[in-house]
Amino acid sequence: MCIGGGASGRIADVLIQLNLRRPLIICGPVIIKYGYLERITLPLDHAGLTYGIFSDVPADPTDATVAAASQALQQQDYDCIIGLGGGSPMDTAKMVSLIGPAGGTVRDFAVPQDNASPGLPIIAIPTTAGTGSEATRVSIITDARNDEKLLCLGRAFMPSAALIDYELTLTMPFRLTADTGIDSLTHAIEAYVSRKASQYSDGLALAAMKSLFENIRTACFEPDNVSAREAMMLGSTQAGMAFSNASVALVHGMSRPLGAHFQVPHGLSNAMLLPAVTAFSVPFAMRRYADCARQMGVVPAGTNDTVATRILIEELRRLNEDLKVPSPQQFGIHESDYTTLLPTMAEQALASGSPANNPVVPDIDEIIELYETVFHSSTNVTAPIRSRVAQAL
Ligand SMILES: [Fe+2]
Repeated sequence: MCIGGGASGRIADVLIQLNLRRPLIICGPVIIKYGYLERITLPLDHAGLTYGIFSDVPADPTDATVAAASQALQQQDYDCIIGLGGGSPMDTAKMVSLIGPAGGTVRDFAVPQDNASPGLPIIAIPTTAGTGSEATRVSIITDARNDEKLLCLGRAFMPSAALIDYELTLTMPFRLTADTGIDSLTHAIEAYVSRKASQYSDGLALAAMKSLFENIRTACFEPDNVSAREAMMLGSTQAGMAFSNASVALVHGMSRPLGAHFQVPHGLSNAMLLPAVTAFSVPFAMRRYADCARQMGVVPAGTNDTVATRILIEELRRLNEDLKVPSPQQFGIHESDYTTLLPTMAEQALASGSPANNPVVPDIDEIIELYETVFHSSTNVTAPIRSRVAQAL
């Protein structure tokens, strides 16, 4: 990892260190608009390295995006792939690194498949803070045939290098800063309460949630605040490392179907769900959620677990209010469409595997109830089901 302001300018040095000479750069059109592509291609030109560019990655890339980028890869003798942008281009780059040389469909690589053998080397350069994809063994691509976001896991998706340069996030508008920032915060919280958490992931998750929560409002309301942007970028990468080792949980499991069926941006769908899913899960991991509250500084260090978790839920609701997170209804989803799809969304959420890492593993009916809870307001929470709480205690 190269970390810090200007780190992306070291791309040529990093490639040469890795004995790589001919990258295909995968990005979205917005990267060209903001001049970030040049910040990568100029050092490559200076070093005399040749490269190709695939700049057609949309938000929420599909198997068709991967197929088109794989075709671009096959046009020349590329020896590595640079994923430049948010999670969408980075995840596309990861999938193309396997499918480009060897063929196959995205579904071939989806869970429960464990993708251990790497394809072409991947160099990740994030421009959001963020999915943390630069530091994870995860790629998420939508199967357009049945509107399902496929979770693909394995060491094969771990980038060989990551250039983590907060200067690339300075132009992010309010909504994108808020959504990607809450995504990162969700990674940190879910990694910490996950059934797969370890001492290694705990340290990263706790450091990340502190940086992210303390800086997210400043980054949103003062976009030029360099220290807030830097803290968000570092927190995002740390949260990525945490959840890559501990997994995410129920928020992410339920978030992906909202994105796949209704095109809700990933961070925003997490934000819509975070207070309600936290309230549902708190009784099953009181100490862990209380640690989050204390670490995020929403209560003093000596606060007991009951008070700390109550205030944590209140603070997550207040964050959604301050960052103007809409409900699914306010986002423009018709209630009849939402209601019709609830059983499918609940099934897809469970099938992704992420809910199995939650402190309490919900059944289909509980997932449907949680989706219903947030439909009219992203700050709605319901009391956990009483029989479940009795089990926890
Ligand atoms: Fe995420």
